[in-house]
Amino acid sequence: MAMTPITNMTRRDAVKTAVGAAALVTAAASIVEGAPAIMKARAASNSVQFGMVGTGSRGSYLLKHLKGIDTGQCAAICDISDAALDKAQQTIGGNPKRYKDYRELLADKNVEAVFVTVPLFLHFPVTKDALDAGKHVFCEKSLVFKPEEAHELRALVATKPKQLLQTGLQRRYSAMYQAARQMIEKGTLGEVTYVQAQWNRNPGWKMKKDVGEMGNWRLFRKYSGGLVAELASHQIDVADWMLGMTPESVMGLGSQDFMKDGRDILDNVQLIYKYPKGRRLVWTGIPTSSHWAGVGGQRTEMGEIISGTKGSIHITIGDDTNKPIGMWFREPTPPATVEAAKGKKEATKAGATMVSAAGSKGLPILLDRDLMKGNESFLEKEMKFARQWLYMKGVMVPLEDKNPVDTELESFFDGCRTLKRPKADLEVGLNDSTAVILSNLALDEGRTVLFSEIDKMGKPGAKPAVKPVKKG
Ligand SMILES: NC(=O)c1ccc[n+]([C@@H]2O[C@H](COP(=O)([O-])OP(=O)(O)OC[C@H]3O[C@@H](n4cnc5c(N)ncnc54)[C@H](O)[C@@H]3O)[C@@H](O)[C@H]2O)c1
Repeated sequence: MAMTPITNMTRRDAVKTAVGAAALVTAAASIVEGAPAIMKARAASNSVQFGMVGTGSRGSYLLKHLKGIDTGQCAAICDISDAALDKAQQTIGGNPKRYKDYRELLADKNVEAVFVTVPLFLHFPVTKDALDAGKHVFCEKSLVFKPEEAHELRALVATKPKQLLQTGLQRRYSAMYQAARQMIEKGTLGEVTYVQAQWNRNPGWKMKKDVGEMGNWRLFRKYSGGLVAELASHQIDVADWMLGMTPESVMGLGSQDFMKDGRDILDNVQLIYKYPKGRRLVWTGIPTSSHWAGVGGQRTEMGEIISGTKGSIHITIGDDTNKPIGMWFREPTPPATVEAAKGKKEATKAGATMVSAAGSKGLPILLDRDLMKGNESFLEKEMKFARQWLYMKGVMVPLEDKNPVDTELESFFDGCRTLKRPKADLEVGLNDSTAVILSNLALDEGRTVLFSEIDKMGKPGAKPAVKPVKKG
């Protein structure tokens, strides 16, 4: 069990311990002063020389984070837009080579690894060419756009054992999500059967003026998979991870009801995924409310509720300002048996006329660093007790030390050197892309789509999975 109850500790004890421990931590840090500089220099000499293709919104966000990571060094940037290149150069600093044609960046011998941060319809061509050019690849989610690309990429990666391919699904790198997964593995939630996920916005994406269709690529199906590719993809991956399986089928309802400005993607989408053994994921994306009921309504837009027979977890990734947060709710105790009229024993729930009002109080999910492992020094143990006490009292919430985006980027550079399998590897990325492609097919055709259908899709003679764009 993740949580160690703290029964014998007063607030004064906890604060005293925390203050004493903090002083010791500071003293220890001063002894090793100077070490970070040595480590930095060592890391820089072996740093991965990377290039980035597509330095728009996500590309420049990643560059902002990459600037602080010394195991990778920006050798080149590429975008078809001068403004995007200028912004990227300002963000990363230094003197990276600038390219407008990504094939020239790929021909640059200094570039060992490539970030693919172009619009979705270009992920596969750039990733394929980068792998063929001998580069390691970090490709943003959703990994591929079309079924044939999924098949082709799987076959191609199999021929490149010395190259890394990582997908930009950063929740896999979050200590909070990993702690949730550990709780599930330990059985804290009992049998986990149900995930509800939402990414609701208010308003949804707006159409940008004067930048044409390409500048608004997300809103057009010939370039984008709409809400499912851009938003649900992260959360379908979370459900797969937490349930430890991939779906068997998907059905849904999608329409364009509120954002009518010439876009051809849907703006109001609900999807139901059927997993083996009766498991379900229910996903919703609407553009008219950003309320999320998880973690007591403290966060907006997106999050997942993972439910099992013994409890539920509410979890969300947050952003640069709001770190990932997770709460755990024990399943309420079954209603007590009461003596009903005529002397018969009945449960208060029987007949569904009486509802048990007692829920359970949400407890913060403890990160790995807060768990008692039994090998702590006296001081570490006291520190952990102190932190747990403060969490229980609601004075503090556990927050991960590192942004998951930094972790995924560091992990990528590490993987380029060690070839260790990434947490968000090819199969994680392809399972996710398959779910996106099939969900859109279910919405387009208004039917239940089996996940086994992907095997035949994108093969010779198969009908296209991407909805043809209406003319006129
Ligand atoms: N992991 C996440 O949380 C996350 C968040 C946001 C976006 N993304 C993903 O990142 C990708 C990019 O999204 P974005 O929001 O940055 O879009 P964007 O439109 O802001 O940026 C895309 C950039 O690619 C450039 N580009 C287009 N064609 C090109 C080409 N042939 N060669 C070089 N550059 C080209 C564009 O000029 C633009 O600057 C998408 O796949 C998106 O899903 C991931």
